[in-house]
Amino acid sequence: MPDVSLSDAGIDLLYLGAAVLFILAIRGMANPRTAVRSNQLGAAGMLIAIVVTLTDKRIVSYEVIIAGLVVGGLIGAVMAYRVAVSSIPQVVAVFNGFGGGASALAVGAALEEALKGTHFEEVDLQFTVAAAASALIGGVSLTGSAIAFGKLQGLIGERPLLFPGRHIVNATLAAICLALSAWLIADPSSSLPFWLLVGTASALGLMLVLPIGGADMPVVISLLNAYSGIAAAGHGWVLNNSVLIIAGSLVGAAGFILTAIMSRAMNRSLLNIMFAGVGAVTASEEESDEVYAGRVKAASPDEVAMLMDGARRVVVAPGYGMAVAQAQHAVHDMMSVLESKGVEVEFAVHPVAGRMPGHMNVLLAEANIPYDKLKEMDEANPTFRETDVVLVIGANDVVNPMARESDPSVPIAGMPILDVDQAQVVVIIKRSLAAGFAGIPNPLFAADNALMLFGDAKQMVAELTAALKEM
Ligand code: TAP
Repeated sequence: MPDVSLSDAGIDLLYLGAAVLFILAIRGMANPRTAVRSNQLGAAGMLIAIVVTLTDKRIVSYEVIIAGLVVGGLIGAVMAYRVAVSSIPQVVAVFNGFGGGASALAVGAALEEALKGTHFEEVDLQFTVAAAASALIGGVSLTGSAIAFGKLQGLIGERPLLFPGRHIVNATLAAICLALSAWLIADPSSSLPFWLLVGTASALGLMLVLPIGGADMPVVISLLNAYSGIAAAGHGWVLNNSVLIIAGSLVGAAGFILTAIMSRAMNRSLLNIMFAGVGAVTASEEESDEVYAGRVKAASPDEVAMLMDGARRVVVAPGYGMAVAQAQHAVHDMMSVLESKGVEVEFAVHPVAGRMPGHMNVLLAEANIPYDKLKEMDEANPTFRETDVVLVIGANDVVNPMARESDPSVPIAGMPILDVDQAQVVVIIKRSLAAGFAGIPNPLFAADNALMLFGDAKQMVAELTAALKEM
């Protein structure tokens, strides 16, 4: 690598430019219209940060860095092309875990080098406090994310793994982590407390996430995302690298804000999600029979098309099944036909519909459904009473009236839902009466004003559209 030494002021200025690009990128993510451009701005900021960092005088060997960039870049590119949209939460979990783990390991390497005297940094209070934070938070996010990945990928059961005395074990592990942090800060002459801290924090990460049920995983992943940002910021403090501090803090803050939004959307406190241990259950056949027996009415696409043809207002409530079926383009076609007949069409989007934040918004935007037709839950709920037909497409938990119950054994108890049952008629498109993510029956399917349209979402919407065109 040629010697392209930048002055410290030049480096700081370029890092500042990269940080401004990161902030603009996050700001633009708030609107689907600017999201693509924001991604490009963020990538440009990252490119500047990487190139400037590569000019760092402290770099000993470029071979390993380039090999890492090539191998990591290739794996990232293949994953980006191959991973289904529905598996993005698992991918985010993997990235969080590796990010947190990498921060902890890189800080450990910096500490070893500094102790040997081959490193520029002095092991002062800033170094040890930041190193302890990186070890603790990086360790927790590494193993916690691995468990989150395993649960979402179905490698580990989604049920919460509860065992007696777990709170005592967790409290003991947390106390050991604090003691090891204090040791590292008080006696920075050895790296032993650092590595013990990484190990204990990793055990704590396992213990904290194993008891959390599958339905709460998105919130946990968002929290682990915040942790990986904090671990990176700690790494930045260790290396005195301003762009790492800023980028890590941005990831941390964004992750905490998203966690708070999601907890609110599920009407759960973060403490309750982390420690209450409620989660995925699977409805037994008897339970389902009790809810559905003899009360479910099935309709044909022609019958539903007739209802929609005579409606003034139709609201579509999409869910995970729309993503599985990739029905968004078919939904766009149906909307166009309905609008050509003078029917008002809007979309009611629940904040945790699908499997990742903004999942439905992304799919509907991909199908060019105008943003002003997408109504958030709070805006949509008061309108259902004046809605002639609600078409629920592959949604289940987010329209399940059982969420209104206060029984804490109901995994979605207290979660605000789309009040689709208040419409004149609710038509639910799904393939069977199978449960959704939370694993519980849905009394909506047996409601007096509900009709089931059984089948694949894409195919059913296409059949509805064809029937509407013929009317
Ligand atoms: P779910 O409750 O998961 O229900 C989806 C329904 O889609 C299933 O009951 C399934 O029924 C149906 N379906 C699947 N494939 C289909 C297809 N090809 N055509 C038609 N229907 C199909 O979805 P939801 O209502 O969107 O709720 C989301 C759930 O996921 C919540 O519990 C939420 O907490 C959780 N979660 C959310 C996120 C975020 S951040 N959005 C992340 C992870 C988990 P059939 O099998 O009978 O067709």
